[in-house]
Amino acid sequence: MSVEPPKSSSSKPSTSSQSDLSVTVIGGGTMGNGIAHVFAQSGHPVTLVDVSKEACERAFATIEKNLGRMVTKEKLTEQQMQETLQRLSTSMSIQEGCQDAGLIVEAVPEVLQLKRDVYQDVEAVVEPNAVIATNTSSISITKLANTLKHPERFIGMHFFNPVPVMSLVEVVKGHQTDQAVVDAVMAWSQGLGKVPVPVNDSPGFVSNRVLMPMINEAIFSVYEGVATPEHVDEVMKRGMAHPMGPLRLADFIGLDVCLDILRVLYEGFQDPKYRPCPLLVKMVDAGTLGDKTGQGFYSYK
Ligand code: 3HC
Repeated sequence: MSVEPPKSSSSKPSTSSQSDLSVTVIGGGTMGNGIAHVFAQSGHPVTLVDVSKEACERAFATIEKNLGRMVTKEKLTEQQMQETLQRLSTSMSIQEGCQDAGLIVEAVPEVLQLKRDVYQDVEAVVEPNAVIATNTSSISITKLANTLKHPERFIGMHFFNPVPVMSLVEVVKGHQTDQAVVDAVMAWSQGLGKVPVPVNDSPGFVSNRVLMPMINEAIFSVYEGVATPEHVDEVMKRGMAHPMGPLRLADFIGLDVCLDILRVLYEGFQDPKYRPCPLLVKMVDAGTLGDKTGQGFYSYK
């Protein structure tokens, strides 16, 4: 398959003029607004699609706040911030938002059917050579693609929170993803100043297959009374130079997200070593999900 952004004359994956690539991000939550931010900051016209006016405004305000933080830290000039904001528009319609896009990045909640519904709407309107990427943290790319008309143009583009700060993009090749699509996404990610790492589709990819068992073991350490959350985190920060301890990081990611990913690993590998810690299950049942609810292993009230 040949992949090229619309408006380009080349028949090969075209990444030479990065800003020619129009990008649509679907979902303006933490990850979606971060992804829209980095594409716009790198010169791409970006449309952010979300379900309501309020959600679009919230996403735009978050991007503005995070750009402002970069201006304060002198990583960006005021003029660059204004130019970035001018490249951003919002829409409440997938149909309207995706028409001219060369790359669509889906960042809606981790619900298989919801994502599939989004792809159906996207495929109905996009250019035939547009790439459709998902920022899923663990759902199989191959499984997500199996209701698409063109699974060969579908790929995982896994960003990390906070997106403007973390340099990794895990580029996940599904069973049917065309190599030209992988190559284009690798180049586009580099154009963002990120470091893309290619991996094959497998439960949790590499990032969460390695990260989540560590977080789960940290939770078991608390559950079994080995140490307090503060002490577990102190061990990992001071002994292993982690910027955040695993329990602080679990709160930051969201305990519900951690549990969902562990369940994907547990079911995907059919291996008891991924069994989620009962304390994690209990905290999610109680609605103490970390930063977003103000209470997790730590209090943020
Ligand atoms: N936008 C722009 N800049 C931001 C930002 C944002 N949203 N959030 C933080 N920053 C910048 C700050 O301005 C600051 O810049 P400086 O270095 O020039 O001062 C820098 O990032 C550090 O921020 P702070 O000083 O506020 O705070 P910390 O030094 O404590 O760093 C952190 C915060 C960057 C979050 C750091 O603790 C960290 O790297 N933690 C680990 C994060 C991590 O592991 N993320 C991956 C999670 S897993 C994931 O996302 C995958 C999913 O599938 C689960």
